[in-house]
Amino acid sequence: MRFPDFGTPECWRLDTPAQTLVFASWRKHLPSIVYWGAPLATGEDLTALADSQLRPIGNAVLDLVPELSICPEEGRGFQGQPGIRAYDSEGRVLLTQFRLESAGNDAGTLRFTARDEGCGLTYTAIFRCFPDSDVIEVEARLSSEGDLPVRAEWLAAPVLALPETAPDFIEYAGRWTQEFGERRVPFARGIHMREARRGRTGHDHFPALIVPQPGCNFDSGEAYGTTFAFSGAHRVIVEETPDGRRQCQMGVAEAVTLAKGEAVSSEKAYLAFSGSGLNGLAQSFQRHVRNHIVAFPEPARPRPVHYNCWEAVYFDHRLDVLKDLAERAARIGAERFVLDDGWFGKRDDDTTSLGDWHVDRRKYPDGLAPLIEHVEGLGMRFGLWVEPEMVNLESDLARTHPDWIILPQGREPMTGRGQHVLDLTNPAVTDHLFGRLDALLGEYRIDYLKWDMNRDLTLAIDRDGMPLLRRQVHAVYALIDRLREAHPAVEIESCASGGARIDYGILKRTHRVWLSDSNDAHERWKMQNAAMQFLPPEIVGSHVGPRHCHTSGRELAMAFRAAVAMTGHMGFEMDLRELTPDEEATLARYTQLYKENRGWMHCGSQHRLQPPRPEIMAQMSVSEEKDRFLAFSATMAVPHSETTGPLRLAGLDENGKYRLRLLNADEISPRATRWFGSPLAVPEGLALSGGALMRSGIVLPLGFPDTMWLVEGTREN
Ligand code: GLA
Repeated sequence: MRFPDFGTPECWRLDTPAQTLVFASWRKHLPSIVYWGAPLATGEDLTALADSQLRPIGNAVLDLVPELSICPEEGRGFQGQPGIRAYDSEGRVLLTQFRLESAGNDAGTLRFTARDEGCGLTYTAIFRCFPDSDVIEVEARLSSEGDLPVRAEWLAAPVLALPETAPDFIEYAGRWTQEFGERRVPFARGIHMREARRGRTGHDHFPALIVPQPGCNFDSGEAYGTTFAFSGAHRVIVEETPDGRRQCQMGVAEAVTLAKGEAVSSEKAYLAFSGSGLNGLAQSFQRHVRNHIVAFPEPARPRPVHYNCWEAVYFDHRLDVLKDLAERAARIGAERFVLDDGWFGKRDDDTTSLGDWHVDRRKYPDGLAPLIEHVEGLGMRFGLWVEPEMVNLESDLARTHPDWIILPQGREPMTGRGQHVLDLTNPAVTDHLFGRLDALLGEYRIDYLKWDMNRDLTLAIDRDGMPLLRRQVHAVYALIDRLREAHPAVEIESCASGGARIDYGILKRTHRVWLSDSNDAHERWKMQNAAMQFLPPEIVGSHVGPRHCHTSGRELAMAFRAAVAMTGHMGFEMDLRELTPDEEATLARYTQLYKENRGWMHCGSQHRLQPPRPEIMAQMSVSEEKDRFLAFSATMAVPHSETTGPLRLAGLDENGKYRLRLLNADEISPRATRWFGSPLAVPEGLALSGGALMRSGIVLPLGFPDTMWLVEGTREN
């Protein structure tokens, strides 16, 4: 038996302050990631490191361990999921054996180019470091040079080898009003695949994965994270092969055909490693969104408090009522009034008018100007809801351009919320939509669009029967980009029946996400705590909803609703006429608190806190200078024990001395806490070092379910 001689590998490394990646290529094969983790010493011998990873060969297997490279190839004997699957137009399998042609690191961007002449394909992988955020952006590209068209069924973004020591991984599942359902899945032999085929990112699958090493918690331990930046059909594969290795692949879940000279991108993914627990990972991703993904038109302007009229009036728009709501909202502290669905066409319910982006003169005889002027007179700016990708058959647009709708001939159509999707791959459609939106933004002082997308894409083919899941997403991106170029001062929110379109692809061109249609603060708190792994608070829309939640029927106290909302981008969304004077005063107080703290909260760090009891779910924000913080500790269920223990804080200056106060000591219910002796509850509060607060923690009162304690801390020295 002769085993192959691999020779000396070529090696490369990439570093950000918190991580090192080492790549090795043997015999000019595609490189493999042989190390990903905490920073390695500068002088590390990469060749020795790569060779130390060569695995033994057992019995009854190939005479080599097939490489789990950045694009594992079937043509190299890899028997798990390959990173590429391609055929020529005659159906022949393109069994690639890429040979590395060049590799180079240019100012933190490592690029590998490999060719397979026989298959007529070039594969490029790009790893771009962002030292300020500790995140690496990765992308693969495939281009075709052969004479026959190539059908790429699958092209994964550069593939990650996952640690074999981790017992499980974290992924996100959910549904409408239950987005960001964090769940732990044990690693097991075989494939775990999440495929979103719904034409939008999906409520059910925020495309991300976290792999915590054993013992990792919020504050300590090692964790790996990645997220895929595409707003449509995608696939995430986690696989453990029979040899025990593990890989993660992410890519677009739709085949593409490449003619000679054409190329396709895998779309981008982002990765980060943390040696400081899940919070360390969250901080990297949040920083990355702040510094490189979301670009606010006016970065210095604080995130304005919103008032959104949806759950107050739905489609029943009456100018006098809206003006009244605007006055009440402004009185409580709102700074932007968002006019939701119902202002256009003849939209009295959700069965008509999508596509007719003209002001409904029955409801607004003089257009939107009187409302906008009223809103501005109250010191607020004005935002407008639109859903440009959609159309109702009952609309002028559908009557005039039935061929613009994705309604394949001879197939029984189906609706979602009574509506259809426009074929945005047809330039006539996007030109028309651009024209309408551009005209609206030109005519009115609108500084914000809530861009909605309320149905899944089905029967997703264009007029020629060609697949369009991928192209439709790019067409939406192009439309938004064009609009932003024409109106750079306008902010855009990405909404899709709540949070069905949240990912770093859409966030590159928008400024806020509507996390969920659930304004139920109890559900929201869970979602927001999960979402903070990837999203900074200032882009996560969070509204104080009606007393009786419209999506769950729960009745929640104003203080709780308001406290949850103030940890995101705060807003109100209810009929303000229902507020009692007490509720209004509480809402105004929390809104003021949001305004006093948003400046530092929206550039500080967020930390999830290890709960002292299972019913507690807590997080805190710490300023960039670590000179102040706000901790939020919610009781989510009836307390488990007769009393409760200390909540350990996080992210503080070890030696700094902080003065702490329980901001809402007046909300201690004597029925839940009969006695609470901590100096936290007296006006002077208590002072302790950051070290003590992080290791010893503070005891908070017992709370009833769905109450929140707010603790403020200020550094004294
Ligand atoms: C979607 C959104 C809601 C609201 C309605 C309007 O469901 O998620 O917030 O804008 O559409 O029809």
